[in-house]
Amino acid sequence: MHLLGIDEVIFGASDLQTCRQFFLDWGLSLHSESAQELVFTSLNGCRVVVAHSDKPGLATGVEPDPTLREVVWGVANTADLERVRQALQHQPGYVDQGGRVGCTDPTGLAVRVQVTQKHAVTLACAKTNTWGERHRVDQASPAYDRATPIEVGHVVFFVTDLAATSAFYQEHLGFVVSDRYPSRGCFLRCAPEGGHHNLFLLQLPQPRAGLNHVAFTVRDVHEVFGGGLHMSRCGWDTELGPGRHPISSAIFWYFVSPAGALVEYYTDEDELTEAWQPREFTPGPTVFAEWAIKGGIDGHTRRQKDAEAPSGRFMTDKPR
Ligand SMILES: [Fe+2]
Repeated sequence: MHLLGIDEVIFGASDLQTCRQFFLDWGLSLHSESAQELVFTSLNGCRVVVAHSDKPGLATGVEPDPTLREVVWGVANTADLERVRQALQHQPGYVDQGGRVGCTDPTGLAVRVQVTQKHAVTLACAKTNTWGERHRVDQASPAYDRATPIEVGHVVFFVTDLAATSAFYQEHLGFVVSDRYPSRGCFLRCAPEGGHHNLFLLQLPQPRAGLNHVAFTVRDVHEVFGGGLHMSRCGWDTELGPGRHPISSAIFWYFVSPAGALVEYYTDEDELTEAWQPREFTPGPTVFAEWAIKGGIDGHTRRQKDAEAPSGRFMTDKPR
């Protein structure tokens, strides 16, 4: 039995109006709202909840709000949920909320598991022509005016005890190590077969607990660019991107989120199986990004932010 992925994330924040606009611009659908809570959904039914910091019953955060308070993982059926109940029932912070069971991980984060509420989606994606393989014939490649994320694909946390936290997810929830920064970071996936990571744990030289980012899967590289350009036009700030990770091979774009830390659009991560052998890396800027644009791309000029845009109709036109 393995977890299927992230079913829901719950942020705690006080400025719900700013979060509301941010996640609408991000491309999520607003499912319901009240003074205490915003509930968004992605294309496959993954839920993104922004709860007011004062909302009763909200799990305790590992750092002050705004931050991610709770991560809810999905399983296939009630038999699997029962197995998770057995696995977690002696863990600190154990809760049984009927359809949702959980505990706190060694960092103090609320971890929950439920029968998945997500549904399968079939989406048209860009086909790529490479040397010797022509997958796109008599057809233009897509461009996106904005993104509509498919799901939350992974979450990344700063942890205070990397060894204990990564062991917890492996021993109690069946996670598998994909790659490591020894003593500094651990990339974990829910199951032997699947995308490169659903969870990445980082331990800083001066350890602290907190959220690093929440990552949203989009269809293809063009949707990363189209989504990022739209967010830039809306006035939201890029942290880093677009760019490409050497570890996982994904194309990324990170934005500063009013719900805490960063959110990421990403696509085209490595797909792994039991045959994959975890690698070890030393942290460094070129290991984090093969290439990246600091500050992002201006949504109007479509150029690196603060770069001068050409004034002619074509690059070769001389301005008058
Ligand atoms: Fe990420």
